[in-house]
Formats: sequence, structure tokens, C-alpha cells
Amino acid sequence: MKQIEDKSLAVILAELKKVLDANIKGDIVELGCYKGETSIEIAKVLAIFSGGARRGCPKNVFTELSNQQDKQVKNIIQEKILGADRATGPEKLINKKLWLYDSFSGLPEKSKEDLSAIGESFQKGELFCTKAEVITKFAKANLPKPVIKKAWFSDLKPEDLPNEICFALLDGDFYDSIKTSLELIENNLTKNATIIIDDFANPALPGARQATEEWLTKIKSKTNSKPPQLKLQQLGALAIINMRNIV
Ligand SMILES: C[S@@+](CC[C@H](N)C(=O)[O-])C[C@H]1O[C@@H](n2cnc3c(N)ncnc32)[C@H](O)[C@@H]1O
Repeated sequence: MKQIEDKSLAVILAELKKVLDANIKGDIVELGCYKGETSIEIAKVLAIFSGGARRGCPKNVFTELSNQQDKQVKNIIQEKILGADRATGPEKLINKKLWLYDSFSGLPEKSKEDLSAIGESFQKGELFCTKAEVITKFAKANLPKPVIKKAWFSDLKPEDLPNEICFALLDGDFYDSIKTSLELIENNLTKNATIIIDDFANPALPGARQATEEWLTKIKSKTNSKPPQLKLQQLGALAIINMRNIV
């Protein structure tokens, strides 16, 4: 079963493109990559922006991207992402690494914040896959191998993360997982970085929203600068946080 809807994928890729267009400093992280289905789409966009088309990045990367079924995704990918490359190419070639994290042991235990009458299908151990599956997926697509860390988020150390982060996709589903993810990236976010939290508005996974809102309150209380410091938008189930003058 696909973990991210096509519409959400379109939003994620469009937000990523904004960050790349603006040449915001830092690398890209995904905490909760599972089989790497979204990671691979992110990697394709990175390949385009790092001059992949001109450097002989395999054609299938581009045809796959434009063969998406969903109209909205197709539109974003063809016009906003591929279009940029077909014309003159992104003006500044970027050189950013993709860092992926997962337990590769499935979901952890839920906490009380995750309880929902309609959330019973998300249980400990579900969504199991292996790191090897992700490595193979990237190799088959001929895309550069990302940094992949197998660990519970709570066991990650600061040195396991890139020093500078411009784009973070947090998809750990549960309260503790999202809380820990936000705390892990907090000090490494660069100015104008974007954070996307999946399931923010998914009633089956209420912990994701609670963890995000608590973190936002904490961050806002820590900064003295005048608003707007931080913009929170909700698109479908996703929360998009743009860090402005906050870091
Ligand atoms: C919904 S899936 C991710 C889907 C993926 N982002 C995609 O777009 O295909 C959630 C993943 O988060 C991982 N995860 C959740 N909580 C975690 C934690 N605390 N530590 C490590 N991995 C965690 C699970 O193992 C699972 O693979």
C-alpha cells in the first residue's frame, strides 16, 4: 500500500522545488522513509537540479516522473519541475545530499497521544521493510545512493544528521516519533528551511498533530523576533512549516 497519496507527493515535490529554486543552504532529510517511495521521487528532483539531465542521468528518471497518474501531480511535475530543466535548466546547479532514516523494524509502540477510534490499523511492527530494499530501489533507478541510517529516532545522535538542513520530511506517524524528529532537526535547520509533516491532519494519527503543535508553541516562545517568524500551512493531511527569521 502506498504511504503517501499522489496529491501529497505533488505538494512535497513542489515545496522541495521552492527550496531548491531559492538555493537555501543545507541537505534534505526524511525521517520515516519506509520503502523509499517518496525518497526516490525526491531523489529524482535532486538529480534534475544537480544537472542530472545534462550529466546523463538515465532517461527513465524523467519519463517515470512525467508518467504519474494523478493530474495534479503530473501538472506539477511536468510544468514546474521538468519544465524548468527542459528550458534552460535550473540556473544554479545544486549539490545536496539526501539522508534517510527508519527503524527498518516497523512502527514503534503507540503512546496515549496516538489513540484514536479509527487508528487501530497502525500497530507496533507494522510497515516493516529492510534497508536493503531501499538501497536496491535507488540502484535500480540509477540514482545516487542516499545516506541511509537504520535506527530508532530516539537513538540517533546529533552527528547522525547533516549539520545543515534545508528540507525535512517527517513521516513517523506517531506522537513520539514526530516529537523526536522535530527535536533532532531543530538546531540544524537553516534560514528559510521547510519542514513537512505528514498525517498532521489525519484523524487516525492524532499524535502527529499534537507533537507538531507542541513543538511550534515551544519554538515560538523561544524566539523574540517579531512575527511572522514561522508560517504553518495545512494542505490535505500535510503540515508545511516555513522557517523564516527563526534560525
Ligand atoms: C508511513 S511510513 C513512511 C512512509 C514514507 N515516508 C513514504 O512516503 O513512503 C512510517 C515509517 O516511519 C518509521 N518510524 C516510525 N516511527 C519511528 C521511530 N520512532 N524510529 C524509527 N523509525 C520510525 C516506520 O518504521 C515506518 O517505516
